[in-house]
This record gives sequence, C-alpha cells and structure tokens, in this order.
Amino acid sequence: MNSILINEEKCIGCSLCVNDCPNACLHLENGKAHTSKTGCIECGHCYAICPQGAIRLSNYNCEDEPVVPMTELDSDILLSAMRSRRTIRHFTTQPVEEDKIRKILEAGRYSPTGGNSQNVSFTILGRRQAEAEAICVDLFRNGQKLGAPLVDFLKRINITDSFFFKGAPLVIVVSGRDEVNPALASSYMEIMAESMGLGVLYSGFFRVCAGISRKLHRLLELPKGHKVVTCMVIGYPSVKYQRIVPRKDLQAKTL
Ligand SMILES: Cc1cc2nc3c(=O)[nH]c(=O)nc-3n(C[C@H](O)[C@H](O)[C@H](O)COP(=O)(O)O)c2cc1C
Repeated sequence: MNSILINEEKCIGCSLCVNDCPNACLHLENGKAHTSKTGCIECGHCYAICPQGAIRLSNYNCEDEPVVPMTELDSDILLSAMRSRRTIRHFTTQPVEEDKIRKILEAGRYSPTGGNSQNVSFTILGRRQAEAEAICVDLFRNGQKLGAPLVDFLKRINITDSFFFKGAPLVIVVSGRDEVNPALASSYMEIMAESMGLGVLYSGFFRVCAGISRKLHRLLELPKGHKVVTCMVIGYPSVKYQRIVPRKDLQAKTL
C-alpha cells in the first residue's frame, strides 16, 4: 500500500504528477489526481513536481526544502575537481567534524537506488575501528605467510598495524543486498567528502577480509542479507598532488 495522500481541494488536475509517475500509479478522475493502491515505489516525484503542494507521502517526513538546481554548480570546476581527485593513502590524525560526517552520510542517503529501494546501509566503525583493523591485519599476515612463496607482490608488501586504514580517523562501510546501489552511494559520498577538503581511500582489501572473516562480519552487525560493497577510509590528507594523472584514452562510442 502506498502512502501518497492527495489533497483534492488543492489539486487542480494539471496531470503533471500523472505524467511523471514511473509506474503509472496516478490517474485523473473528475479533474483530480487519484492514486492506485499498488505499484507505487514512493519515489516522491509526484510530491516534488506538484505546483500546488497537493501531495504528501505519509510514510515520510515531507520537508518543503527549496530545490537547488544542479546548473548552479559550475560544470568546469566540477569536472576539474573530479579529474584532480586522488585516492588518499596518507592522512593526518585530525578528526573529521560531526557536521562533515553528517553531510557525507546525507549524500549517500540521497543517492539513487533501483526501484527506490533505499536499501543501502552505512556503518561507521567508530570505537571498533582498531578491532576491525586488527582482524584484517591478522588475516592478511596469515595469507602472506601462505601465499608469499607463490605471489611476488605478497613478498613485497609490509602489512603494518595500520595497513588497512592508514591512521585515518573515519571509516564508513557501505553495504547492501546488491552492489550497484551501495557503489553509487559511495561515489556520491566520496565527492561530498572531497568537496570539504577530505581525502578518501576505498579499501578493497578490507572488503576481501569482510568476505572471508566471520568474526569481522559479526563485528559489522550488518542488516540481514547485506554484504560489504565498499569500505571508505576518510580523513584529512597529509599529501598534496601537484598534477593530474594521465588516463587511458576514452573508450566510448556512439552506435
Ligand atoms: C573499489 C576500489 C577498491 C580499492 N581498493 C584499494 C585498496 O585496498 N588499497 C589501495 O591502496 N587502493 C585501493 N583503491 C584505489 C585504486 O588503486 C585507485 O583508485 C587507482 O589506482 C586510481 O588512482 P586514483 O584513485 O588516485 O585516481 C581502490 C579503488 C577502488 C575504486
């Protein structure tokens, strides 16, 4: 059952909501919008598009916040920032301020999800960060003993106690049932973090550990059926990059 409420007194029958509904859940009847009971994913487009403010979603707290158009962002500056961003592997110990953490999480919360499932969860390691890192370090050191004779790379890497989180003050694990939604959320979060002077490392190594270690999986207390998709290591960079790195030629075509 959807939670769309239509105020018939306010509705002028303009049909903007009807035309914008992705699942054809709205129709006009006697010049007023009506909603069907099934199929609604509560994406909120009807609420957002209504010029009369005649629609609300009772399952949600509908705040009438002003819309800031994306076109207010300078696209050249945005592209330049995206090209200049680097994975950060060296951090200062300066803590990340609460309001910045909130903005990073908010960016994740507002990322698109297939079918508007919003089934991405965010776990800040907080006081269990050192414990989680120690589990990963143990796992990798054991793996190194076994694999080093076979894999050259494993011989070279020095698995220090801060190998996974690099001394960064904040680690957010992003999980979900599928991979696409959490990955998209992470990308939003990364850009938000970087816009506030923070650096981000996606720790793929941590993700490997979370896939192997039951102890680590238990520690994370993820929602049922969730798997770790990204582990975002976040803090203030202690390094500065002087130039944009080269990339392979663009692989894109028009059919
Ligand atoms: C999903 C993902 C997992 C990654 N895992 C690690 C990791 O475990 N350790 C690491 O040092 N870098 C990791 N990286 C960083 C990549 O090596 C890096 O993005 C790539 O070399 C390009 O460098 P740039 O991000 O500075 O452009 C990861 C990146 C992504 C997107």
